[in-house]
Amino acid sequence: MITRRQASAGLLSSGAFAATQTVLAQQAGVRELPPPRSEGGEPLIQALRLRQSTREYADKPLAPQVLSDLLWAAFGINRPASGDRTAPYWRHVMVIDIYAAMADGVWLYEPKRHALVPHLASDIRAQTGMQDFVGAAPLNLIYVAHGERMQDISAEDRRLYASVDTGFIGQNVYLFCASEGLATVFRGAVDYQTLAKTMKLGGGQFVTFAQTVGYPKV
Ligand SMILES: Cc1cc2nc3c(=O)[nH]c(=O)nc-3n(C[C@H](O)[C@H](O)[C@H](O)COP(=O)(O)O)c2cc1C
Repeated sequence: MITRRQASAGLLSSGAFAATQTVLAQQAGVRELPPPRSEGGEPLIQALRLRQSTREYADKPLAPQVLSDLLWAAFGINRPASGDRTAPYWRHVMVIDIYAAMADGVWLYEPKRHALVPHLASDIRAQTGMQDFVGAAPLNLIYVAHGERMQDISAEDRRLYASVDTGFIGQNVYLFCASEGLATVFRGAVDYQTLAKTMKLGGGQFVTFAQTVGYPKV
């Protein structure tokens, strides 16, 4: 067992130190996010002008307020009375969950609490895609569908509608990033089976896409 004192006193190798930081962060439990900003950002037309995919990221974690605003923009609640979201979704059935893979582990975004719930206490960023930048970028969003909630349709249609739901969320993320000067890329080049296993997903769940977010490399 590694203590926090050992870790901070530099008595560990850098690998063990990083692993310890991850475990300590996750042991801290649910991570409340600051309330999302309700104003600011670029006008929509400007964000559309700036929207693009970026594949080079600075090695710098996202500020808590930025993470909060990003997740709210992605698929947060914009109508508290109904609990409805910033993106439309198939048949009013909530299918997509957003997981945030960061250096300190994997977290499930819970829109009702606007909080991150610990899911895995390990850094799996490099396993969220097949391109080198994914392991170094501060955040990889993993979009996961609850296929078992999509009743009375074929497996093919489940994949189709879950992908459409994800695409709307992905575009919200693109526009938010354009507005905030952040870098992002939506990604389909993912080893889906391995990632689902690594994430210990439930039977009906499947990964639809991933999306990297960070500060642009200057
Ligand atoms: C369904 C989908 C899957 C994608 N998969 C990847 C991917 O795995 N890796 C990647 O670098 N870009 C991926 N992209 C980003 C596209 O390559 C990019 O949007 C396209 O080249 C246009 O560039 P732009 O977004 O800068 O306009 C994907 C985009 C979509 C819509």
